[in-house]
Amino acid sequence: MMRKLYYILIFLLSVTSCQSQHNKIDTNKKVGGPCEGCEAIYEFGNQRLTSIDTLPDFKQTEPKLKLTGTVFEKDGKTPAENVILYIYQTDRKGLYATKGNEKGWAKRHGYIRGWIKTDKSGKYTFYTFRPAPYPNGLEPEHIHITVKESNKNEYYIDEFVFEDDPMLTPNERNELENRGGSGIVQPILKDGILTANRNIVLGLNIPNYE
Ligand SMILES: [Fe+2]
Repeated sequence: MMRKLYYILIFLLSVTSCQSQHNKIDTNKKVGGPCEGCEAIYEFGNQRLTSIDTLPDFKQTEPKLKLTGTVFEKDGKTPAENVILYIYQTDRKGLYATKGNEKGWAKRHGYIRGWIKTDKSGKYTFYTFRPAPYPNGLEPEHIHITVKESNKNEYYIDEFVFEDDPMLTPNERNELENRGGSGIVQPILKDGILTANRNIVLGLNIPNYE
């Protein structure tokens, strides 16, 4: 028993919020396969979700970033309504910043996170800022994203990464799974804000999706 607990503890200590999502052990038939931390998508509390959200520290942080696009059903054409998207990201130091009073997954994901629910047109918009890469400099800048459709369990899709990021090497690109479609965005300066467009196709390259 103690040995089992020991291994569980070692496992928990060895994963980070990022690596855990890439755990490929297919131990069940969950839509999207295993995903530690995807349940953070339910942590929006009393917020009434709309299709637009502004993440904490947006006002005082540069460079500002607008992530926007349309969520489509699996056919790639029909706009998907009432889909919840949850994103979380590092701050400008590359850290999942906490204030110390976090509860639940915010302890790991930090407070720079947000939720939207798509409207009839399937549109979503997040106002945030460009994250910095981890301090170890080994991974591209990225923003994690989880999806919840009304009739499916939550699952993660490819992180947002940036076309102009020198850390997004050919090797990194080869490893992308294109879950929900490509997460590579090309930020373009519009009205003083880097604007990145990404459309999402539900179920695309998602295991156990029917
Ligand atoms: Fe990460």
